[in-house]
Amino acid sequence: MASTATQRAIGPVVLLGPPGAGKGTQAKRIAEHYGIPQISTGDILRANVASGTELGKKAKAIMESGNLVPDELVQQMVADRLRQPDCARGYILDGFPRTLAQAQWLDNYLKNQKDSQVAPVVVDIQVGYNELLGRLTGRRTCPTCGRIYNVHLQPPKVDELCDVDGAKLVTRKDDTEEVIAERLKAYERQTAPLTDYYQSQGRLRALDGAKAIDDVTGQAFAALDKARP
Ligand code: AP5
Repeated sequence: MASTATQRAIGPVVLLGPPGAGKGTQAKRIAEHYGIPQISTGDILRANVASGTELGKKAKAIMESGNLVPDELVQQMVADRLRQPDCARGYILDGFPRTLAQAQWLDNYLKNQKDSQVAPVVVDIQVGYNELLGRLTGRRTCPTCGRIYNVHLQPPKVDELCDVDGAKLVTRKDDTEEVIAERLKAYERQTAPLTDYYQSQGRLRALDGAKAIDDVTGQAFAALDKARP
């Protein structure tokens, strides 16, 4: 029988945090625990780049430079994804919104839903700058199942191979020191102000993201269980 966590309505969950904070790592665990989909705008954009769609062609150079893809393109992409039936009980937005305009768009989108979905719970994973650099330069990802590793902090059992399916791990194109610096600047300029935006609405749940991965997961579950009992 399914646990109560996979039966109750969770509604929209927004994961905020700088590049390398652990949004993807935690989103996968939250998705599994509550039985709701992870919607990573970075993953969807990378899939579009890999398959050469019109959206992918527009996004490729912008992503490789560490800047943000234009709001309208990302919003359309998110709207298409939220219409899928697996989002009915809730979903985790990993990497969206990332600008004030995207946050306002999301608020309007949710208000205009027929079944008037509840406002999002916003989980902000906070980590210091130097820790982020170490995490991003050591990150490796499985190209088939998406599992995330770190050669220093969370290595696979066998060097460079995924524990789950044995695929050869890859380094993301935007995980070079130069591009990481641009991504962190874009975060400070465009995304960090969202903390105040959601704080002023009383929706922000801050987590200490510098703790071990299991500890951060525990903080996230506690925050969500409190917000959506
Ligand atoms: P995106 O893919 O969203 O990248 P990001 O925000 O830069 O975040 P990352 O995926 O780098 O980090 P993360 O927080 O998920 O950390 P992770 O769990 O992997 O976006 C990429 C690009 O797409 C953007 O630059 C932009 O161009 C475009 N884009 C995406 N969304 C957009 C939007 N809404 N608007 C416009 N443009 C958009 O963990 C990192 C590493 O740390 C891993 O190695 C992991 O193992 C390790 N780690 C995680 N947690 C811990 C821990 N607690 N302790 C130790 N190590 C840890």
